Amino acid sequence: LIGLAVTAAITLSSTAAIANCDPGEMVIKFSHVTNTDKHPKGIAASLLESRVNSEMNGKACMQVYPNSTLYDDNKVLEAMLNGDVQLAAPSLSKFEKFTKKFRIFDLPFLFEDVEAVDRFQNSASGEKLKNSMKKRGLLGLSYWHNGMKQLSANKPLIKPEDAQGLKFRVQASDVLVAQFEQLGANPQKMSFKEVYGGLQTKVIDGQENSWSNIYGKKFFEVQDGVTASNHGILDYLVVTSDEWWNGLPADIRGQLAQILQEVTETRNSESAKVNQQSMQRVIEAGGVVRTLTPEQRQAWVVAMKPVWKKFEDDIGADLLEAAEASNK
Ligand code: LMR
Repeated sequence: LIGLAVTAAITLSSTAAIANCDPGEMVIKFSHVTNTDKHPKGIAASLLESRVNSEMNGKACMQVYPNSTLYDDNKVLEAMLNGDVQLAAPSLSKFEKFTKKFRIFDLPFLFEDVEAVDRFQNSASGEKLKNSMKKRGLLGLSYWHNGMKQLSANKPLIKPEDAQGLKFRVQASDVLVAQFEQLGANPQKMSFKEVYGGLQTKVIDGQENSWSNIYGKKFFEVQDGVTASNHGILDYLVVTSDEWWNGLPADIRGQLAQILQEVTETRNSESAKVNQQSMQRVIEAGGVVRTLTPEQRQAWVVAMKPVWKKFEDDIGADLLEAAEASNK
């Protein structure tokens, strides 16, 4: 009996947050890798879930699986093409197997801030990118913001030379590999759920991420400090299977698209605030945050920007021009 009770309790606690769907409702699984609260993606996914489940009750039922509990980012897109999951929002760095065009988002010091990223994503070029993986079975529905990336390591990072020889975890993106090689560091591709352990056991020395990820996954606890470098962007694409999406009854698809668009607008306008709060929370929790003078930051620009050259052909001059124009 005791054994049974324990099993029941474990089952309950690991599934407690997953929505219960009624018979006859179409189940829409949404898998992601971050926290649910105090995080731009987690909050947006939860809002989408609650709106779908109240406004489409009886027709559709969304189940959000956060924190890599269902799939890791390197598995989720395959699972989507197999019909095992219907929605995900991987970072834009995770689409490398599907398109080289998304490399634009990983170029260091391209976008000045999230507003510039927003302008680019909402331009004709950004819209086109959402449809660029259709041949491979994937359809981009919306861009979701997280924020600018910061650098952290087990020693202070003030000058680019400080990164020399250090092992940095990167997302599965060749641009990010090249960015750290440019600094004389050793980049290692690693999944998000392994980063904290990797830093703690010193398999890696450092990483780059947004404030909400550095706070949400407590990376600051196992690092010397975080340098407010704002050197790149971490943003997401809400993605689905083109076949699944276009196979939906038109009314269901329309209602889902409308809710998603409203959630996107509401939450994207709050992402900067969420990251600002995360930075504050890192400081309050005893984390060290280092800021750079304009001259110090410029040295990182000079060190990292040559990476652009390697990827210009993959990305295309037109797209690069459109992205640069979004800074004004
Ligand atoms: C990462 O792998 O560092 C991020 O893409 C995780 C996320 O989804 O924010």
